Amino acid sequence: MFAVQFDRFGGPDVLHLTTTDAPRPAAGQIRIRVQAAGVSPVDVGLRAGRTPMSAKLPLPHIPGVDAAGIVDEIGDDVDGVTIGDHVFGIVDLTQLGGATAQFAVLQLWARKPPTMPWAQAGAAGSSIETATRALDLLDPQPGTTLLVDGAAGGVGSIAIQLAAARGIRVIGTARADNHDFLRQLGATPVTYGPGLTDRLNALDLPRVDRALDVAGAGTLTELLHLTGSPTAVVSLADFTAPTHGVRLSMGQLAGEPDGRHGLNAAATLFTEGRFTVPIEAAFPIQKATDAHETAERGSRRGKIVMTVDDAQGI
Ligand SMILES: NC(=O)c1ccc[n+]([C@@H]2O[C@H](COP(=O)([O-])OP(=O)(O)OC[C@H]3O[C@@H](n4cnc5c(N)ncnc54)[C@H](OP(=O)(O)O)[C@@H]3O)[C@@H](O)[C@H]2O)c1
Repeated sequence: MFAVQFDRFGGPDVLHLTTTDAPRPAAGQIRIRVQAAGVSPVDVGLRAGRTPMSAKLPLPHIPGVDAAGIVDEIGDDVDGVTIGDHVFGIVDLTQLGGATAQFAVLQLWARKPPTMPWAQAGAAGSSIETATRALDLLDPQPGTTLLVDGAAGGVGSIAIQLAAARGIRVIGTARADNHDFLRQLGATPVTYGPGLTDRLNALDLPRVDRALDVAGAGTLTELLHLTGSPTAVVSLADFTAPTHGVRLSMGQLAGEPDGRHGLNAAATLFTEGRFTVPIEAAFPIQKATDAHETAERGSRRGKIVMTVDDAQGI
């Protein structure tokens, strides 16, 4: 099969298109012919060799944890899916990648709604799982207010919508250029950075009952002050969280219950017109370097994705 891979850690230019053996699904897994694969911060960090997980990564490595495609092989002990089904989901996270290729093996998946574009489906899996897991941990009640710090990116833009669908009022932080984007997704926007509490007070918004730290930008003290309790805050990206008494949620890799049920729920919401996967940019797989360069820029609206077409192969 063809695949994007890297043989050494470095900048986006270490990515190259090559041919390699197609993976086979183990028990509980399925293989898909990939139509689209997301690019996430973890993929960029692993490729750059700057996360602790990079040290465990066998090279060469095919990046990408999210993919959507057409089921072409089914492992043992799998029910409810048929060859030819259109699905989206997440690779086996212990492998830390494998999605940006002609074929990929999925560990978690849901049926893709027929009207959901491949690009949205390919980018969605881990952000939906993460947002669902964080909301389950925070357990905000309908009518209460959730602050999402770092709301415009891949996880935040999805967390806003899933929270709103649960009947929760959402305030999201973003740079000013992204405020209309947040409004469209159902959140009240406020600019991130120092002075957040003062800006919230000036806007005369409801009291913040729960806070989700997506950005890991060092705001935990302020989020604790706003909510009044460490149990009312969850971080996805601030490794100092435990020193504040705040839960740092790392999901399956840390042995936590995952948010897999969120995949089917988000698919249903999409079909009802209540959910979308915002795509900032889509690149053909041959432009993997450009996709990672864009992902490295930090500020964004939603997800970066690569599209895969057999006709594009090498
Ligand atoms: N623990 C887990 O299970 C888990 C799972 C997935 C991701 N993550 C982590 O969660 C983080 C976010 O992931 P992502 O996929 O959403 O990233 P992303 O798509 O790259 O989005 C990052 C967002 O952060 C915002 N941002 C930048 N500086 C900020 C600041 N000082 N305060 C608040 N927001 C700021 C940007 O907003 P603007 O565009 O408005 O500037 C941008 O939209 C990453 O660190 C990722 O590794 C953790």
